[in-house]
Amino acid sequence: MEDYEGAFSGKRVLITGGLGFIGSNLAIRLVNLGAEVLLVDSLIPEYGGNLFNIADIADQVSINISDVRDEHSMRYLVQDRDYLFNLAGQTSHLDSMQDPYTDLEINCRAQLFILEACRRDNPNIKIVFASTRQIYGKPASLPVGERHLLRPVDVNGVNKMAGEWYHILYHNVYGIPTCALRLTNTIGPRMRIRDARQTFVGIWIRHILEGRPFEVWDGHQLRDFTYVDDAVNAFLLAAASDKAKGKVFNLGADCVVSLKELADLLIEVNDGAAYSARPFPQDRKRIDIGDYYADYSLIRSELGWEPRVPLREGLAHTLAFYREHLEHYL
Ligand SMILES: NC(=O)c1ccc[n+]([C@@H]2O[C@H](COP(=O)([O-])OP(=O)(O)OC[C@H]3O[C@@H](n4cnc5c(N)ncnc54)[C@H](O)[C@@H]3O)[C@@H](O)[C@H]2O)c1
Repeated sequence: MEDYEGAFSGKRVLITGGLGFIGSNLAIRLVNLGAEVLLVDSLIPEYGGNLFNIADIADQVSINISDVRDEHSMRYLVQDRDYLFNLAGQTSHLDSMQDPYTDLEINCRAQLFILEACRRDNPNIKIVFASTRQIYGKPASLPVGERHLLRPVDVNGVNKMAGEWYHILYHNVYGIPTCALRLTNTIGPRMRIRDARQTFVGIWIRHILEGRPFEVWDGHQLRDFTYVDDAVNAFLLAAASDKAKGKVFNLGADCVVSLKELADLLIEVNDGAAYSARPFPQDRKRIDIGDYYADYSLIRSELGWEPRVPLREGLAHTLAFYREHLEHYL
């Protein structure tokens, strides 16, 4: 048992984006810790929300299908909650370029609705915001620490950056206990595999399980990957610790791999599969960040977080989950 776990027993928790990949894994963990969990999600089909994600806890959580862009719903939903895990978001980088206004509405403007609702009706609520390494843009040096300049390369990065800073601002000015985690590529059961909107690893896994070769673009880019259980741990640690208030933390990994190495590892873990390497499509190349891996020493020293699940093991769990439940994710 982790020493923060008692913090959630009997507590009233709201998770926006709670039917999505990370939100649903977090919900399962919180239910097991004895929290009273309310999930808010719009279930927009292009995003990662999926009712099957919470099939195992469906009778132990409350679900409100609503949109964080609805200011009136949000005012009502944040009331009387002890914790808010704020994960609702538009996650596709390419979609943010093709439809910048929707990304703006969800990742930026709606974040202000949520924070204003908390300021007016529940200023003591503890909030953890799901931010992203995308806000750094193309790294000037590696590994990337929290002091690296923020200079996003796409609309999604700009809006997530604003969303993150609204959270920090509402701590600095109004004293609301907020913090933000800058997640790197997260993988695991319940991620979207229908297409590459959430992560390219999703579509790779779909192709592998359907017996089709997947595509690796370029393949030399370096990345770090967080297994979803480790990401969930970080959210819980950040929510439970007073030291996190007003801060932003990178998540990261000990193992840094190129995409080609990741593809080879996935094939090895699956005991076979094939891929073809091809150059980046132009529309993606324009918003690619090149190599990235995080320095996560701040969260390690301040909150004691460390990634625990090795990449190989995380990939094996993920493949096993989709082998069993593929039909719910296509
Ligand atoms: N998965 C990653 O690798 C990763 C990396 C960096 C940051 N993040 C951030 O973590 C958060 C969760 O990501 P995820 O990977 O679980 O993605 P996801 O798409 O599975 O989850 C997001 C959820 O938010 C919901 N949602 C979207 N717009 C909404 C709206 N307007 N109103 C209500 N609900 C809405 C979606 O239906 C979905 O269920 C996101 O904010 C994302 O930016 C994820």
